Amino acid sequence: MIAPPEKAPTPIGRVVATETKPATTHQFHFWTATETTIGIGAIVKVGPGSGSADGGAQHAAPLHQHVERVVYGVVTDGFAYSDLVTPLHDVIGAEGDPTRAAEAPTARQEIRYWTAAVLRQTPEEPLQPVPLSQVYVADDTDVAQALRMDAFLHSAAPTAIPVGLYTSAGRDAPVYLDADFLLGPEAAHLNISGVSGLATKTSAVEFLLGSIFAHFPSHKGRVAAVCFNVKGPDLCFLDQPGDLSDEDRHRYQRLGVPAAPFERVRYYAPLKADGVNLNTLRTHPDLIDAVEPLTWGLQEVVDFAEVLLNRDDIDAKADAFIDFLRDRVLGRTFDDGFGGTHRVQTFADLDRLFRSIFDGLEITAGGRSDTWRTHHIATMRKVRNRLMNISTRCKGLVTDDGPSSDLPWNEFADRTVYVIDIANVDPLGQDLVFARVVSKLREQLERRELGVDALVVFVDELNKYAPGDGSETYVKKMLLDISERGRYLGLVLFGAEQFRSQVHRRVVGNAGTQLFGRMDMDELATPGYQVLSPATKSKLATLPIGELMVRHPHFTQPIFVRFPKPPVLRGRDGVERFPPAADVPFEDAVVRQLVQLDRRVRPNQVKDLIADREPDDVRRALAAARRTRPDDVLAYFRKILGSRVTPDARVPREHQAVPPLNAISDEPY
Ligand SMILES: Nc1ncnc2c1ncn2[C@@H]1O[C@H](COP(=O)(O)OP(=O)(O)OP(=O)(O)O)[C@@H](O)[C@H]1O
Ligand SMILES: [Mg+2]
Repeated sequence: MIAPPEKAPTPIGRVVATETKPATTHQFHFWTATETTIGIGAIVKVGPGSGSADGGAQHAAPLHQHVERVVYGVVTDGFAYSDLVTPLHDVIGAEGDPTRAAEAPTARQEIRYWTAAVLRQTPEEPLQPVPLSQVYVADDTDVAQALRMDAFLHSAAPTAIPVGLYTSAGRDAPVYLDADFLLGPEAAHLNISGVSGLATKTSAVEFLLGSIFAHFPSHKGRVAAVCFNVKGPDLCFLDQPGDLSDEDRHRYQRLGVPAAPFERVRYYAPLKADGVNLNTLRTHPDLIDAVEPLTWGLQEVVDFAEVLLNRDDIDAKADAFIDFLRDRVLGRTFDDGFGGTHRVQTFADLDRLFRSIFDGLEITAGGRSDTWRTHHIATMRKVRNRLMNISTRCKGLVTDDGPSSDLPWNEFADRTVYVIDIANVDPLGQDLVFARVVSKLREQLERRELGVDALVVFVDELNKYAPGDGSETYVKKMLLDISERGRYLGLVLFGAEQFRSQVHRRVVGNAGTQLFGRMDMDELATPGYQVLSPATKSKLATLPIGELMVRHPHFTQPIFVRFPKPPVLRGRDGVERFPPAADVPFEDAVVRQLVQLDRRVRPNQVKDLIADREPDDVRRALAAARRTRPDDVLAYFRKILGSRVTPDARVPREHQAVPPLNAISDEPY
């Protein structure tokens, strides 16, 4: 992957040190010719210049032997000045006329003077100031040495994941991240920030996922990704090819990443309120086959009822009542104490139970009691309102009545992207989806039953879900939990946001790898960026599209890289090329879904069958067919239409409570 070093490189500059500006162990200054290829972010080598030094070999050298010190640095600042003592002399020389300034009889000596931060020294011990030697432009091998990539690039079991090309000084050297530090167990998580549209945050994550799928080391097992699509059609066309320039193709080749869209992508989207049309922009007839409905019933929602309660609601009483519902009521035959027997499996059943309890307290008990089985009527009303509220606000995601359709929790496939489209879902529903999906992923990974060993969860617009201020929501606690503990499990968070300073600091702080696209000056003025030099900040504020600044545990300084445009169809272009289909009438939608399950199904047969039926019954039968996937879909559908579907008929369900999450405190552990 790495080109051989060039013969006898020519020095481009020389380290200089004065009493006021000495070379130190971490910083040095050098001058170059006025015409030079280097600039801010360029990697340079200080040393003897006989090709690339081999750090390992030098390390092994006996102490008494003279070892030539080689230092790698990255340019962080640049200055230009001449021998003028005061600007006034220049004015006098030009007789006050700027147009005559160039006519001066003698050209003044100019200097290009650069400051560089040390990336690496070899030998590393004893640590000494940078020698006053010659400065060279770094070649591919030098870049690998400087960024300490040699250890994971050339080891017996390489863990290198290409992130982009280092392109300063006319070079294009691949830069790699270490999978052990990007996807665990040593460190994990990635965060990317930058202004909208120019920072290429979503694109960078798309590219990096492709790179991870191509380079995830085989000894680390299987890897997959779950991406939440929270904005329009952003991630709806990851399996469709986009337009790439020859330059970008060359970059893909240089990085060893295939310039092709993702081979295996599965889409999940809730239904619309009508219960049959999918709530996504990927509804073009050619593409809809890859989209599965995502619908949850009462069982799934009650396990995550904590998400639905806001801060004021969370009290021991509501918790106790929800536990009671979960343990004693759901899926069992239950006597309400007023002469009624219930079997609660759906929201509709639950509502009936609540009604008979409230009626019972009022009529049978004559309003004398306001508790039922030790639960106060006010607590019960609150819980009922919250639960019923979600089924109204997120109709289509949450089914009132009927079984659920879910992700394949036990059989996640290797190198597959699972896109969950919640762009058009109510914020409460989005929280529910986040909470349930991430908690299930964590649970399955803990039991080693997910089907993959590492899973990347991509959350765009992180400032909305884990804001630095605001209340302590379940989703925020959960994201914090992944960022603090996920790496041991292989659960890795890739987050993107416009303003990093607005995201909870421990969520961004725990990201081992940090990418920055074009940044806003105001954002750069916040305390989080104090470590960057003014020149680096101004480069960040004007960074072109497709360039990123990378911080990674192996790199002692931030590095600028350029990554190629993702090889997938952009969301915006996707909706133009594959315009979303208009919502189809109820019966056509039913036909379409049945045909999708079994090509032999004839539309007219279905239409006749459902002509006089209640839509709810049809939806239930459809959901059952989708879940069961029988050989003869139409016969099965006909049979189910006649009977009531029990959502729990499949497997006896074990109790699943919301995994406990620690309260957010200032102490990370
Ligand atoms: N490497 C690249 N080279 C050239 N253009 C690119 C590259 N990556 C992305 N782009 C283009 O840049 C534009 C913005 O990209 P993207 O949508 O990823 O930005 P974003 O930071 O996610 O924006 P937002 O904050 O609005 O979500 C897109 O039009 C995309 O095609
Ligand atoms: Mg984006």
